[in-house]
Amino acid sequence: MALISGSEGIALQHEVMDRTHAEFIEHLNALAERLEAGGDGLRGLDELIAHTEAHFGLEDAQMAALGYAPENCHTRQHAMVLELMREVRKHVTEKLDTDPLHRLMPALAEWFPQHVDAMDAPLAAALRSRTGGAACA
Ligand SMILES: [Fe+2]
Ligand SMILES: [Fe+2]
Repeated sequence: MALISGSEGIALQHEVMDRTHAEFIEHLNALAERLEAGGDGLRGLDELIAHTEAHFGLEDAQMAALGYAPENCHTRQHAMVLELMREVRKHVTEKLDTDPLHRLMPALAEWFPQHVDAMDAPLAAALRSRTGGAACA
């Protein structure tokens, strides 16, 4: 069963962002399926992390181009989520324990639509209008 609906976060009317978000959901659901099938999920987690690095990196660059402060809360949230993914990966490889990964998955599924609504949607609007503005309320 899919962890998160494919329609979450893909209606921002920004082609690249919508496609990237659809891919993020695909990676998340693929990883959930691998875990459900009894795997350690490491390959899927690596793919998710690589995709997320590119995803967040692009949005961070877009915010920089729009004049957002480097340490704005959207960029900081990206860094925190990536750090969490990397910490979980480290735990899986070093302790051979997938429990934190099993806990990370529903947390990411819950976090992602909120992030899209609160942070990516205003960024998409700013990109469409080519205006700056605040990254976060
Ligand atoms: Fe995003
Ligand atoms: Fe974002």
